[in-house]
Amino acid sequence: MNKYLVLVNPWNKWNDNLDFKIIDVNSRYALNRMAEEKTYLAFKSFQAYALKYGYDIEIESGYRSVDYQVKVFDNCAQKKGLEYAKKYVATPGYSEHHTGLALDICLKKDDKFFIEHNLPEDFKVFLKDNAFKFGFIVRYPIGKEDITGYNAEPWHLRYVGSLAEDIYKNNLTLEEYLEKQIVKSGYCYQL
Ligand code: DAL
Ligand code: ZN
Repeated sequence: MNKYLVLVNPWNKWNDNLDFKIIDVNSRYALNRMAEEKTYLAFKSFQAYALKYGYDIEIESGYRSVDYQVKVFDNCAQKKGLEYAKKYVATPGYSEHHTGLALDICLKKDDKFFIEHNLPEDFKVFLKDNAFKFGFIVRYPIGKEDITGYNAEPWHLRYVGSLAEDIYKNNLTLEEYLEKQIVKSGYCYQL
């Protein structure tokens, strides 16, 4: 079993039994953010790489407790409405952010942070085409909304480790990748 392939989506609730080590990451965007340890180390390498290409990246949101996700959901529903919130924010208990393996990435430019829908197009392309080198996939791609259950989120990266390259190169979501593995091996080795 590779616990870094854990599937958390609208149909699979997070089951807090994989013992991920959650550490404090002190993001410049918001202090005292947290993430899973290997995920954060991979992010630091990606951050240094991105800087060489002129992109100063930071963690906007990493690990979230279920209680915190309640706040994120309610806040979004209040500002944008319930239908919008359901397309962009997971029901508390069903968010990948509970694992610590999901990172929302923001971009620092001219002393300002750009987040989510305000990210520049070239940066979204950079994330999509380079994150896999560091073990990340863009978890909610454009055109796969029915499979992932969410609208596209070019900023939401998910750490999966070395299999990221395979997933990226075959243009798969985590759902599709895991299904292929199950078909190939005849059983679900992941859970
Ligand atoms: N934005 C993703 C779906 C989450 O809330 O986990
Ligand atoms: Zn996210």
